[in-house]
Amino acid sequence: MKIKKAKKQDAKEISKMIKQTLSKINVKHYPPEIIDYLKNKNSPERIEKKIIEGIGYVAIEDEKIMGSVFLTSDLVTGLYVKYKLINQGLGKELLKTIEKKAKKLGIKKLFLNVQIVNIIGVLPNI
Ligand SMILES: CC(C)(COP(=O)(O)OP(=O)(O)OC[C@H]1O[C@@H](n2cnc3c(N)ncnc32)[C@H](O)[C@@H]1OP(=O)(O)O)[C@@H](O)C(=O)NCCC(=O)NCCS
Repeated sequence: MKIKKAKKQDAKEISKMIKQTLSKINVKHYPPEIIDYLKNKNSPERIEKKIIEGIGYVAIEDEKIMGSVFLTSDLVTGLYVKYKLINQGLGKELLKTIEKKAKKLGIKKLFLNVQIVNIIGVLPNI
């Protein structure tokens, strides 16, 4: 698995990966309206905008996108791992990558909006 900077040409595939994860994983915890809202928030156009205006990283295996994370000033967004690879350490690697980049940019504090089902994973690491 390689983690590399996202390019705007990756937006379509990132959006597809996120939508799949929302349909297979997050769907267990949220009503359809929220899933639709999140899918809309992660449209190819909106992801392309985030890549252009901020920084994004993707995890690649066999030339396919397996995870994503974005940084827009001090806000971390779009942290998603392909549904098949959940809980195998990739989310942690993506977060470490964005933290390292933020540090280089002189950002002292990062913010992340956390979906309620993930809060147990985040609390011990604050
Ligand atoms: C949330 C997500 C990005 C985490 O990535 P991951 O690759 O599955 O997580 P990792 O395997 O790197 O786990 C990192 C740590 O968090 C813990 N963790 C991961 N997901 C968790 C969850 N939902 N609840 C509680 N703990 C969790 C792991 O046990 C691990 O702890 P450890 O370091 O003490 O062993 C991924 O599960 C995902 O894409 N989920 C669906 C989309 C989503 O909810 N995105 C987040 C928006 S806030």
